[in-house]
Amino acid sequence: MKILVTGARGLLGTEVVSAAHVRGFETIALGRGDLDVCDAGAVADRIGVEAPSWVVHCAAYTAVDRAEDEPEVAMRVNRDGAANVARAGADVGARTVYVSTDYVFDGRKRSPYLPTDPVGPLSEYGRTKLAGELAVFREAAASSGVRTPPLIVRTGWLYGAGGRNFVSAILRRAERGEGLKVVEDQRGRLTWGRNVAEVTLDLMAAGVEGIWHVADGGETTWVDVAHEALRIRGLDVEVEGVTTKQWGAAAPRPAYSVVDLAATEEVVGRSMMDWREALRRFLESEGRP
Ligand SMILES: NC(=O)c1ccc[n+]([C@@H]2O[C@H](COP(=O)([O-])OP(=O)(O)OC[C@H]3O[C@@H](n4cnc5c(N)ncnc54)[C@H](OP(=O)(O)O)[C@@H]3O)[C@@H](O)[C@H]2O)c1
Repeated sequence: MKILVTGARGLLGTEVVSAAHVRGFETIALGRGDLDVCDAGAVADRIGVEAPSWVVHCAAYTAVDRAEDEPEVAMRVNRDGAANVARAGADVGARTVYVSTDYVFDGRKRSPYLPTDPVGPLSEYGRTKLAGELAVFREAAASSGVRTPPLIVRTGWLYGAGGRNFVSAILRRAERGEGLKVVEDQRGRLTWGRNVAEVTLDLMAAGVEGIWHVADGGETTWVDVAHEALRIRGLDVEVEGVTTKQWGAAAPRPAYSVVDLAATEEVVGRSMMDWREALRRFLESEGRP
């Protein structure tokens, strides 16, 4: 199996590339410098030449707060870039994995969101990612070649060795002895990028299509994550919980974005790793952030 990965130098792309290598797949890892997904011609050329059987599309505009100020830039990458990739993939008979987000939900539910639940993004970032999902479905349906149904993997609250993330940021601050202010009123599923990569490859192997939720098990808040990361690292730093309103981020975020994992767990035949276990493994195996 030949897998082409876009955004291959980002947090998740790095993990997908290494997990695919370990499984023995031929892997074409393309960072932004190798392939700008907004350049439709370059995308068509490169995917045409490589002719992979899968494209795992990890490239994205991921600056959630900045997207409020430049939604058109985010839309160009997250919708139009995804459409370019899906179209080029379909043209060579490749299936596309589009990585999406729990921020497509409005957060008003109080039980885990099913893949079939209505969406209602609160932020520009969420809107652009949802537009990307729709674009990928549209491109696959419009293709006149072999059927290439997309696989949409919705995940959230990612951390890992390959990119900027909350866990690494708070540990860096704590190691400098700085106190922490952390949002306490958002609930979600903290998720190790490595686990998303593994489960995504499992879903690809299972041959499923459509929207799937992939995250670590258990639900939490950012303040609980901070406490747990500090505990594992043995750091004694004051953590002050603040409300979303007090924090005052530019982009609104769902108060509750816990995604339901039952369907995914059934297909892959195992429970998702608990977030605390994943965090411990990450911090022990990956060393200092
Ligand atoms: N991180 C999370 O908590 C989270 C949560 C839910 C969903 N997701 C989704 O997961 C996927 C992977 O995100 P991530 O966390 O790995 O983010 P990331 O670390 O920011 O990686 C995204 C990568 O895409 C690249 N990129 C941006 N614009 C591009 C373009 N026009 N052409 C080619 N590459 C481009 C970035 O390069 P530069 O660094 O040079 O800009 C970066 O390497 C994204 O679809 C994201 O929406 C992430």
